[in-house]
Amino acid sequence: MDYNPLSPEVIDNPYPYYAYLRDHAPVYWIEPLQAWALSRYADVDFALRNPQTFSSSGFTGQTLGDLNPTPEIPWILDMNPPDHTRLRKLANKGFLPRLIRALEPRVQEITRQLITALRSRTEGDLVPLLSGPLPTTVIAEMLGVEEDRLDDFKRWSDDLVLGTSRPPDEAVRARLRKSGAELRGYFAQLIERHRTNPGADVLSALVRAEEEHDTLTSAEILGLAVLLLVAGNETTTNLIGNAVKNLLSHPAELAKVRADRTLVPSLVEEVLRYESPVQLLPRRTTREVQLEGGKIPADATVFLLLASANRDERKFPEADRFDVTRNPQDHVAFGYGIHYCLGAPLARLEGRIALESLLFDCPSFTCPREPLPQIASVIVRGVQTLPLRFTA
Ligand code: HEM
Repeated sequence: MDYNPLSPEVIDNPYPYYAYLRDHAPVYWIEPLQAWALSRYADVDFALRNPQTFSSSGFTGQTLGDLNPTPEIPWILDMNPPDHTRLRKLANKGFLPRLIRALEPRVQEITRQLITALRSRTEGDLVPLLSGPLPTTVIAEMLGVEEDRLDDFKRWSDDLVLGTSRPPDEAVRARLRKSGAELRGYFAQLIERHRTNPGADVLSALVRAEEEHDTLTSAEILGLAVLLLVAGNETTTNLIGNAVKNLLSHPAELAKVRADRTLVPSLVEEVLRYESPVQLLPRRTTREVQLEGGKIPADATVFLLLASANRDERKFPEADRFDVTRNPQDHVAFGYGIHYCLGAPLARLEGRIALESLLFDCPSFTCPREPLPQIASVIVRGVQTLPLRFTA
């Protein structure tokens, strides 16, 4: 069986390929991409725990190519220690647990408004009406975007995400470049305004962040703000969409959650494991390395198949079964180690609140159109649309 993450069959349903790789070729050479793929939990976990051997060297910033509005500022995702250690310590100050907990009432309120609009229609698409705007609106507030710039901000965010799928059309690319320049200009001003007049938002926390007499430069804050849009929006949208999709295709599991609201956090963890929004992470080896599944040479590109690790029967019994009571604690959907997702508590909060509102504040719903088209991406997994019809 040939595995290539770019092939439409893999994008449509990667899981049979992952199962084959885990059993027959756990360290697999993808000839067309000149890269290795690690599919077993033990090997992916080892790579995540050993960043000095599996380095993060500049891949993700390249996903935007010439559409990156801040190409001269390296992304934290692409950094290695000691630069990463320094930036991460400072960036953490914007994501302290108490700051994220304090967001809960606003996340509830934003969700309530979006759900009211979604329910007012006989048939509403979850993606543009709830799972898309929720994370974008929350990040906008976290960054202190003024209300009269919210629509611009949403357009810039959407355009940035669209840029990661590398649109070939030059007219579209020109529009995305213009949008990126506007985003950059707006944020540069916003950061300076927060320096003179800080508030209670994340941007102010980043401006104030100090660690051993070290602070973040305006360029570093700008780079972080852009990355938050790229890393935090589509991923969270897909977490919510993948949850609803899998509940609809597993009616017995849906019934269990409807009967017991306290299962929602476990549902969120199971969706992250079962249908991981980030399917793979790129790394580069700094030396030859012997893994459980085979050997990889030095200076090689390696894809860590997070979504396959999360379906590894060697780690999760009956891994292909979607079980809302499983509450898996050691899935790698948010990565692990030094680059562990900075936004994980926020994504969990938004996922829980969106699903609680959909399942407990709305009438029951069906999806009138299947199969649902998948986003054509190598890295993220989610549905393009998810039309819902509410019963009276
Ligand atoms: C379900 C939603 C999300 C998923 C599945 C996800 C997944 C990930 C993964 C797998 C990584 C590790 C990358 C690596 O090791 O190379 C990561 C890092 C990161 N994530 Fe998330 N993420 C989500 C939501 C968010 C949100 C909401 C934010 C912020 C608002 C965010 C911000 C970040 C940042 C800044 C990093 C880089 C951390 C570092 O390099 O030290 N993510 N995320």
